[in-house]
Amino acid sequence: MEKLPLSLSLSLSRIHFILLLGSLNLQEHELQLTRTPPNRPAKHFVNEPLALVNAALRSATYTNPSVAFDAAQKTVFLRDAASQPTIALISGGGSGHEPSFAGFVGKGFLTAAVAGSVFASPSAEQVFRAIRRVGAEQPQRGVLVLIMNYTGDMLHFGMAVEKARAEGIKTELLVVGDDVGVGRKRGGRIGRRGLAGTVLVQKIAAAAAAQGQSLEQVSQIASLASENLATVGASLSHVHVPGREITPDELGDEIEIGMGIHNEEGFARVKTTLKGLVETMLKQLLDQSDSDRAYINVKSGDEVVVMVNNLGGISPLELGAITTEVIDQLDASYQIKPARLLSGTYMTSLNGLGFSITILKATDKAILPLIDAPADAAGWSPAVSPENWARGIDTTKSEIKEDAPTADDSAPSNLDLDAAFTTAKLRSALKSLIAAEHEITKFDTIVGDGDCGLCLKTGAEAVLKHLDAISSSSSSSSAAAAAGGDLDIVHFVRNIAQVIESNMDGTSGALYAIFVNALASGLQSQSSSSSSSSSSSQQKTAVTAKTWATALQAAVKSLARYTPAQPGDRTVVDALVPFVDTLAETLDVGKAVAAARKGSDSTKGMEASLGRSVYVNAEGWSECPDPGAHGLVKLLEGFLV
Ligand SMILES: *[C@@H]1O[C@H](CO)[C@@H](O)[C@H](O)[C@H]1NC(C)=O
Repeated sequence: MEKLPLSLSLSLSRIHFILLLGSLNLQEHELQLTRTPPNRPAKHFVNEPLALVNAALRSATYTNPSVAFDAAQKTVFLRDAASQPTIALISGGGSGHEPSFAGFVGKGFLTAAVAGSVFASPSAEQVFRAIRRVGAEQPQRGVLVLIMNYTGDMLHFGMAVEKARAEGIKTELLVVGDDVGVGRKRGGRIGRRGLAGTVLVQKIAAAAAAQGQSLEQVSQIASLASENLATVGASLSHVHVPGREITPDELGDEIEIGMGIHNEEGFARVKTTLKGLVETMLKQLLDQSDSDRAYINVKSGDEVVVMVNNLGGISPLELGAITTEVIDQLDASYQIKPARLLSGTYMTSLNGLGFSITILKATDKAILPLIDAPADAAGWSPAVSPENWARGIDTTKSEIKEDAPTADDSAPSNLDLDAAFTTAKLRSALKSLIAAEHEITKFDTIVGDGDCGLCLKTGAEAVLKHLDAISSSSSSSSAAAAAGGDLDIVHFVRNIAQVIESNMDGTSGALYAIFVNALASGLQSQSSSSSSSSSSSQQKTAVTAKTWATALQAAVKSLARYTPAQPGDRTVVDALVPFVDTLAETLDVGKAVAAARKGSDSTKGMEASLGRSVYVNAEGWSECPDPGAHGLVKLLEGFLV
């Protein structure tokens, strides 16, 4: 159906909208401009390219049992379409735009959808048969055919409508052209194409039909919606049509603004950030001074529906960030807060790496309720109720404040430790770990996912910061008797566990947090009961190597409840267990650290059965210790300095 030349290309571009945010090292780190080699085959989950469309259409009957499928006519329709009391609504067009339109067939939405092959209009015959199927039994009830403004669709659907009328079936054709990407001057005789906004017009028409409105009434509200509708798209690359020849994508690292849903060109190619892109797109949709466009006139306070539509290949994560950018800019630059926001996949261009923004001005009070009306169609997904929307969108960014951290009001232990000495040792250990980050990262890049070093460093830095904070506030309860030089070790360790928990990600973060929490409990259980003696007369017990060893052994036991890792599994446990066992045996920290080092070294070349290395088929691991074990050794070595 699309008459413009198709520029086919690879669909595997790895540029992301989200990463064009322009934020310094994020961009540097993530913007991967590695282009897919031009002669690499585009891969698809396709049994047989020619059977792809029918296989996909059939799924509509599986996801919605009220729907039937005529494979010969590539038509999906409501089983009881012919006998329905309300007018019928038919749509369709080339395939490749799913869930448009077969996914919208269902009660409260389309009565039937007629599909062509990928990006090609269905034939007039297919459409005519669909009109007859839903309309012949009650010829005066009415059939509304609602399509997008493409040459092929106009011709074929138009011809079918004429034939149906000649047979006495009351039929109307309504064409949606919501694209603002190509302005009036350049659009010329091609005119405005239909884009994702079409789905909103269809939804409105269908809901009006479901209320029992006449063909004239439904056509009228649908036309009104269509006249107050504007959409613009942007893509990072052209798409590859399964089964077709592969050509390199000439878009490179540029973004095409205004690109259509069949690879057809837009109005500009730019290198910009997501922010800059959305600025340009909103301007095209809304700028009244743009005499070439200004298709709709939206003022602050108008009720609008906004749709942020995935063209098929954007991750939901990125689409979410795009949606936030759109809504924030609409608010900041235009003082527009949408009455309804739809963000998702409504009309695609195969696996297009792009999105479109649609704005529908609800000029009639009837429009929002028609959008809200339930539709029993698998492809329609606005899950939020009108009551909910009545609250309005809040763009003030007044995030819900975090609860104040609960003070550690547990009774102090009677364990006693030299605060200055302990803190100095811990600092030295943390610094030793931080200094080893580069080395740990190097190992983890070979045998893991490369994040272990930074994860440990982040945790260590957070604990260092915590130590700074307590040493500068002597009134802090965890520094307890900073003045006297003593420390309530249980509170101290428990607070560190808290810091680890909130600052350290990943498996290492969880393991350390569990372990240090358990260590605090292990210490607490050695604090003789204070209930029998009054706090004033309470005897303090000095913490010894024995106290630590007992607490550490308890912590190892606790850890084992949450991870099955044993020595020999090539994890941090290979260093931890020898350390704790040796300390318990000898009460000599130096010997214990040596045992940890030996345990860590033993992981070189060890087959992994658990942890990070299981998923990695690395050659290098025979020279490479487990990064987590190595990190623990570096931490422990720092205590000896
Ligand atoms: C559809 O395109 C034609 C030109 O092909 C144009 O004249 C017409 O205005 C467009 N219709 C809509 C509804 O945009």
